[in-house]
Amino acid sequence: MADDINNDNLLERIGKLVSEYKESLSIAQDLIALESLEIKILGRKSELTNILKNIKDLKDPQDKKRVGQEANFAKQTLEKLLSEKKESIKKDYLANVEIKEKLDITLPGTKFETGHIHPVTQMIALCEDIFMKMGFDVYYPNAIDDDYHNFETVNLPPNHPARDSWDTFWTEDDHIAITHTSSMQNRILSSKNPPIRAIVPGRCFRHEATDARHEHTFNQIEGIYVDKGVNLTNMLGVLQEFFSKFYEKEVKVKFTPDFFPFVEPGGMMSLSCILCDGKGCSVCKQTGWLEILGCGMIHPKVLEMANIDPNTYSGFAWGFGVERLIMLKYDINDIRLFYSGNLDFLKQF
Ligand code: DAH
Repeated sequence: MADDINNDNLLERIGKLVSEYKESLSIAQDLIALESLEIKILGRKSELTNILKNIKDLKDPQDKKRVGQEANFAKQTLEKLLSEKKESIKKDYLANVEIKEKLDITLPGTKFETGHIHPVTQMIALCEDIFMKMGFDVYYPNAIDDDYHNFETVNLPPNHPARDSWDTFWTEDDHIAITHTSSMQNRILSSKNPPIRAIVPGRCFRHEATDARHEHTFNQIEGIYVDKGVNLTNMLGVLQEFFSKFYEKEVKVKFTPDFFPFVEPGGMMSLSCILCDGKGCSVCKQTGWLEILGCGMIHPKVLEMANIDPNTYSGFAWGFGVERLIMLKYDINDIRLFYSGNLDFLKQF
């Protein structure tokens, strides 16, 4: 310590240092700031440490005592202030964490949305269930099939004009996105012996301009029943039973002749209107009836192609669109809703 610094100056300097450091401590905000302050105040190179180190060089023992006492007192005071400040910063931090990261373990957890089964799939399962209880087996079609199964085996040879009504998508190697699940008729008929009872639910594809009643992709359920002595009345009985179960009410059915190459006689089956119970409404156009499916007695040529003798056996077949059935069950007026991915619609099922 330089001799020219007299003791009064030293005492004054210690007093100044203490108030200067007190001021810095009062504005320190966090533990990092406090750490560097600690080094500055009490570290090896701090001014106070330097004063303490050099007390021994003071000549006058009285001075040594006075300056020594003062400097040590200053050191203790500052140490105490530092540790108090450290505590208060920690306490503030913890109080803040509690506010910011408040955890209420009594709150319910985050709900993860899970999907559910699509209404069309649900309804296909219902149809399968009803038909299985009536003794039908269930087969699924190939989504892409050949001309032979989609057309030829159901009596639609190449260049048959009726093929136009099933115009669809072809692959470059002459395969087809199936136009109907009748594509499975021959496979089922030729692989089993009568009695044969089977349904074929599956997706079909048509080259179709879409509107509220038409989709390019939709589902069908084809049905076939072959045995000795099977007739049209049996068919109407089976279908009436099915529709009564599906709509959970008594329904009437009627058959109107129409042309399909794979049945003879062929026709449309109508159902007493589900919405007005046959009284007449805008959906059934005041007729009380809804044309719901194509059906008929399987054409002898179709049986022959599957090696079933048409003189011994007879059978009936039908095909209906699943979406149409659901639309009537729930009074849905646009088929496009099924595949639009509209959750407000889908969540209702
Ligand atoms: N395959 C026909 C269609 O897609 C529906 C159909 C009509 C199937 C009459 C049949 C039937 O089995 O006999 O339009």
